[in-house]
Formats: sequence, C-alpha cells, structure tokens
Amino acid sequence: MNYAALYQRSIDDPEGFWGEQAQALDWFRPPQQVLGRDDQGLHRWFQGGELNMAHLALDHHVNQGRGGQTAIIHDSPATGTQQRYTYTELRDAVATCAGALRELGVAKGDRVVLYMPMIPEAVIGMLACARLGAIHAVVFGGFSPHELAVRIDDAAPRVILTAGCGMEFTRVIPYKPLVDEAISQARHKPEAVVVKARPQADAELQPGRDHDWDALMAGASPADPVPVDATHPLYILHTSGTTGKPKGVLRDTGGYAVALNFSMGAVYDLHPGEVFWTASDVGWVVGHSYIVYAPLIRGCTSVVYEGKPVKTPDAGAFWRVIAEHGVKTFFTAPTAFRAVKKEDPDARHMADHDLSCLKALFLAGERLDPPTYDWLKRITGGRPVIDHWWQTETGWPIAANPLGIEPQPEKSGSATFPAPGYQVEILAPGGERLGRGEQGHIAIRLPLPPGCLPTLWNDDARFRSSYLERFPGYYDTSDGGYIDEDGYLFVMGRVDDVINVAGHRLSTGEMEEIIGSHEAVAECAVVGIADELKGEMPVGFVVLKDGAEVDHGTLETDLVEMVRRNIGAFACLRSVAIVQKLPKTRSGKVLRKSIRQLSSQAEVPVPPTIDDPSSLDEIRDAMHEQGIGQHKG
Ligand code: COA
Ligand code: AMP
Repeated sequence: MNYAALYQRSIDDPEGFWGEQAQALDWFRPPQQVLGRDDQGLHRWFQGGELNMAHLALDHHVNQGRGGQTAIIHDSPATGTQQRYTYTELRDAVATCAGALRELGVAKGDRVVLYMPMIPEAVIGMLACARLGAIHAVVFGGFSPHELAVRIDDAAPRVILTAGCGMEFTRVIPYKPLVDEAISQARHKPEAVVVKARPQADAELQPGRDHDWDALMAGASPADPVPVDATHPLYILHTSGTTGKPKGVLRDTGGYAVALNFSMGAVYDLHPGEVFWTASDVGWVVGHSYIVYAPLIRGCTSVVYEGKPVKTPDAGAFWRVIAEHGVKTFFTAPTAFRAVKKEDPDARHMADHDLSCLKALFLAGERLDPPTYDWLKRITGGRPVIDHWWQTETGWPIAANPLGIEPQPEKSGSATFPAPGYQVEILAPGGERLGRGEQGHIAIRLPLPPGCLPTLWNDDARFRSSYLERFPGYYDTSDGGYIDEDGYLFVMGRVDDVINVAGHRLSTGEMEEIIGSHEAVAECAVVGIADELKGEMPVGFVVLKDGAEVDHGTLETDLVEMVRRNIGAFACLRSVAIVQKLPKTRSGKVLRKSIRQLSSQAEVPVPPTIDDPSSLDEIRDAMHEQGIGQHKG
C-alpha cells in the first residue's frame, strides 16, 4: 500500500476514508453521519451509530469462534505470578464484574473511578464499565491521595474500584489507606468501594461502603453489553495542564474504536492472534489504548506487565517477557530503555533469550533521543525502532512510521510522518505557516481525526481556550518542532509549562502552586531540566519572604516532601535553590526558558525584555553551587 496516497485521501476525503474504516467494526447500528457537529459546534464522529466497546473487545471475538485464544497474559515479576485469560474467560469475568457494578447501582453514564495496580482486575474493571456504558476514570496508582481526591471530585463517581496494594519493585504500597484518605479529602463521596484483596497487604473494609471484590463477584449475575451512541463517553482521563487543576480528557466510543482498530493495522502492523506488549500502566493513555482497548478490539493477545525494566529482577526483564510470551511488537517509553542501557550497556541479557519473535519496537511518551535510538538499533540487529508521537488528548499516534501501510526509511530523532487523518502544520507564534526546516508550534488542522478528544469533561469552555483559540482552525498541540526537507516531523518538546519526567506528564505550574504555599516562600519557578535517565527533572528556584528564617537544607526537604505528598513520588522534585530574585521580563513574566537554557548551555542569550540581567547570573551561580544541570563551564 502507498502511504502518501492513503494519507492524502484521509485529508481530502475524511468522511469517505473514515466511513470505510468504520465498516471493519461490529456495530449494533451503523453510523448515520460520519462527521458532524454537536449543538456546541464541536466535531463529532459517527453520530447515530450504536456499539459497545466491551462487545467489540470480547463478545465479538467469542462469537467469531476465537474464544479459546489468549486475550491477556498477566506477567508479574513483582509478585512472581502469571495468569492467562482466554477471550471467553475474560468476557465472562467482565460480564460478571459489570453485573456486580450494576447491582451497586452503576448505570449508563455513571462514573466509576479506578485506582488499580497492573493486575487483570484493572482491565476487567475498565471493560466492565464499558459494558454498562458507565464512564471510567482511571487514576495512576502513583498519584497521592490529594490528586486522587481532585479526580474524585471532578468525576463524581458512584463507585471506586481498587486493590489491596500496588508493587514498586519489591516494595508493597498499600492502596486502601490512600483511597480512604482521598475519600475523606474529597467533597464527593462514592457510594461503594470494591477492593481486590492481594496476599501482600491486608485491606480494612468499612462496613456498609466497602466490598471485597471476590465475594461481590461470587454473588453477581452477568450483564450483557449495553448499546451506546458512538458519541457516548467511554472514559475520562485526567492529564496535567499548566495549572493545579488537571484536565479531564474525554474519550468517545465510536471514533475511538475506529481509530484504534485502524492504528493496530496501519501503525503497528498487528493482526488477530499476534502478541502485543505495551510496558506502561493502565493509568496512562498508552495503557488505556494499547494495553486494553486496541489489542483486544483487534483480537490480539495483550501482555499486562506488573514489573519494571530493571531490578525485577534485572535488566533482562524486557527480553525475558518478549521471548517467553512470543511478543511480536513491543512498545515502551525511551526512559525505560535508558534504564536498561545504564545497567546493561552491551545488552548481554539478550543472549539468554530467543528473541526471534520480536519484529519491531515502538517508543513514545517523550522524544526518542538519538543515542538511545542508535543503541536500540545496534542491539536489536537493525529491527524497526519507531519513535511515534502522541498525547493523552489524541488517544492514538499523531505521527509514526506507518509500518503496516508502507514502512519509511527511519530518521533518528524524528517521529516520521503524520498518521492518516492528522494534518500537521508548523506555525509561527502569530499563526502564519512556517516552511520546511523552520521551528515553531506544532498544530493540527481541524477536524481532528476520530479517537481524539471531542472536548473536556464538563468543560467545553476550557477545551476551547486550551486547544482551539490560540490558532483558529487548528488544534494547538503545545509541542514545538519542525518538518524537514523530506517531510519528516521532529517533535522537540513542550512549549508550555508541562514537563515529561520518566515518561510521566507533569505540570510545573502545579508544583509552583505547592511550593508557593510554603510559609517561607515569596515566589518560585519550577523548570524541567535535561536528565540523562528520566529525560527531564523538575528543579525549583525560590525567593524567600523578607525576614523568613529557614536554612536551605530544611527548606529543600520540606518542599520535596510537600510535592511528594501532594502529587506523588514520581513527580521527582529533588533540588531546590534559593535565589534573591527570579529572572523576569519587565512586565513580570518569569523567564523559564532562560533558566532551562542555563542548565545546559554555557552562554545564554540575555532576553531584551529582561528586567534585571544580574538575576540570570544568580541562577547560574546557584546551579553551579548545587550541581544542577549539565552545565560545567
Ligand atoms: N506507585 C507508587 N509509587 C510509584 C509508582 C507507582 N505506580 N510509580 C513510581 N513511583 C515512585 C517510585 O517508587 C519512586 O519512589 P521513591 O522516590 O520513593 O524511590 C518515585 O515514584 C520515582 O519513580 P520513577 O520515576 O519511576 O523512578 P525509578 O527510579 O523508580 O524508576 C524507571 C525509573 C525508568 C525504571 C521508571 O521510571 C520506568 O519504568 N519508567 C517508564 C515509565 C513508563 O512506562 N511510562 C509510560 C508512559 S507512556
Ligand atoms: P502524555 O499526554 O502523557 O502522553 O504526554 C504527551 C506529551 O509527551 C506530548 O505533548 C509530548 O510533549 C510528549 N511526547 C510523547 N511522545 C513523544 C514523542 N514520540 N516525541 C516527542 N515528544 C513526545
């Protein structure tokens, strides 16, 4: 197949293109209109069509005679266990869980929050919501009770699904006390909490509100899939914006199903019966799309991994899982491979495993840095190593090497070409289109293809102001980059205050709000600076209130603890420097970009709008003193 022709058709005739793709799915009622607008004027795909995501992911395959095929393999080096579910077994478990939720009062349109580790019940719980037409909001298990409470208040769930604990390497993290704490902090109180017991930790159940997962399932009768409109929300997934209030990215059902099914063939080149492994977490968009929904809609086998790239038990963990389960395509974040490379630079562990099954590697979550790309190319003997770019908002890749359409020559550092449906352009700050090789804002011309967010949960206004207003007629990605002479897209990083730490998206604005609440702090700036392992690491610069008496060590310990407590340990704020003044423009805007540049460059241009150039020297000195950044000069 010819990529260029297929891509052009998707842009010239989106309705024809996606209308055809939609025919691959088992709808209860076919769409009446491929692309339309809702009463708010926002684009909507496949209105009038009726379907059910759990039906597509499970019942459909069982009905087609593939019920005996493995749907998921749970592989947990963290607990030393493995478990397989065939499509029939998974369908039955999901139907029972949906029945149990229904008995707890959950109906179409109700919300259910999941705070789960990487166990089969996380997948079962998500699909059970989908079966009822209930809207799930999964919260990553690393988030603090405070962050969980914020999401509970936003989603207002009837029920919370959780488990006795999560595992961090071999450390047991009891979840129930975190959930209890979150509920006590939240204004909204769920009616029920269902807890999957795990042998590693006891969970105390509150009578009248809490239920043991297994006991509840034992008494439940199975529920059938509930047909929903294509535009019905499948889930809310909160993601970091530039302030402390996360954005509730909304996902519809029909557009998402069509896009995921298409991407499994076009991007990942995966077919029914093949094994796909995405080493991420169900708490992130990558987990929603490529651990749960896409592989199952496609009829593949999905590996659900509860472990780490290293130390569970060693840097050979990825190779062991790939060989043991016959993984054809493996997808993870570059930071995970940097962790492997650090411990096993010559990839000696690979020799212990037969990796002939492995056909391609996909990387996302942050830019695949050229040194890691080169290393992966070398150790995998030249197999495709594909950097692909996407966001929580889009739900599937915006740009990728289209392996299943027509593989393109790889270029290190590039996410290759836009996926069909995405009209990607580079814009100047004023909105003019830039030419090849010119760096600017990456924007996507509307309409976005199916699968991308139609709006934010309960907040059309924020959707418009965050994404549509800056460049009229476009979706603003908040990423910057350029398209080279050959049309390859290079995504170079965020242009807003969002940073990427070990593949996790975090808001520096939120960290500033937390640090700013300390009694000794007058003002502060948090910037992400380059880190060899995690891509970026947040560093705080604070100005103390006049007369504040606190020594640096105590303040740093306090602030690090406050960020851990309010967001979670994975936020990784480790260093805080005290300065007399933050570099600002004359109008009072903090010059974060200059601070970032100081961490990696000896010479940083002094912005003409700066109020006091000596403030930059002070930041430079503070970085030297504390060994912050890679600047040695
Ligand atoms: N629950 C509780 N705590 C968690 C957590 C979770 N799910 N995930 C991370 N944390 C904690 C860690 O235990 C650690 O705590 P500590 O400071 O007390 O030691 C802290 O958050 C930082 O964790 P992390 O940034 O993950 O660093 P690490 O050194 O433990 O591991 C990697 C480094 C590279 C192995 C790990 O970050 C990794 O696997 N990253 C891949 C991420 C990924 O797949 N992203 C996909 C998005 S597409
Ligand atoms: P998230 O919403 O958590 O998936 O994070 C999305 C952000 O991660 C994007 O806006 C980018 O800044 C970054 N990102 C993800 N994948 C890539 C990639 N392949 N190349 C560059 N940046 C990426």
